Amino acid sequence: MAVNETLSALQVMQDAPVIPVIVLHDVAHAVPMARALVAGGIRMLEVTLRTPQALACMEAIAREVPEAVVGAGTVRSAADAQAAQMAGARFAVSPGYTHAVGRACQELGLPLLPGVATGSEIMAAQEDGYTELKFFPALQAGGIPMLKAWGGPFGDVKFCPTGGVTPQNAADFLALPNVACVGGSWLVPADALAQGDWARIEALAREASAFKR
Ligand code: 3PG
Repeated sequence: MAVNETLSALQVMQDAPVIPVIVLHDVAHAVPMARALVAGGIRMLEVTLRTPQALACMEAIAREVPEAVVGAGTVRSAADAQAAQMAGARFAVSPGYTHAVGRACQELGLPLLPGVATGSEIMAAQEDGYTELKFFPALQAGGIPMLKAWGGPFGDVKFCPTGGVTPQNAADFLALPNVACVGGSWLVPADALAQGDWARIEALAREASAFKR
């Protein structure tokens, strides 16, 4: 996939085995971090809207790292989705699902991975046309047994489990037929950012991009 073409949620999920969940407090970290992740083979980058600097970080990555595809995480409202897209986000990830967020992303043409943790939430997202979903918080909400159980009634859904996924358990999640990728914060540790240890982030990305699925 060329990174400048229109994306689908499935392409976001299929590009690499892991979507990094990123928390940035300093705009100066955004570009070298994104370059390190891309060098390690990860280009779909979920920058969470959890810090005042998040939108500026997305802008910097979108402007200066064309090999990366920056997305917004922690999208909880239509306004979040709109602000993220204005900042250069090309996909959105939400921790839960509301029709308002689902409709807003459809109107914006912004691919969304909606967060779900129950069958009712899956059905609500599917009613609005979403079949690629984030399972959040994956480990805490039932983990692998839950994904296996959902494979029956929701066999047409692909999941990105996020929350409690680690380098140690990622392979078990990725082995499931209804898991397209996983999400996790371990690729961008806070101390590596603080130390400017881009080589460590690149190494973590390289290890993650080699996971089998
Ligand atoms: C989050 O909410 O920060 C993400 O789900 C990542 O969770 P993790 O830190 O367990 O990877």
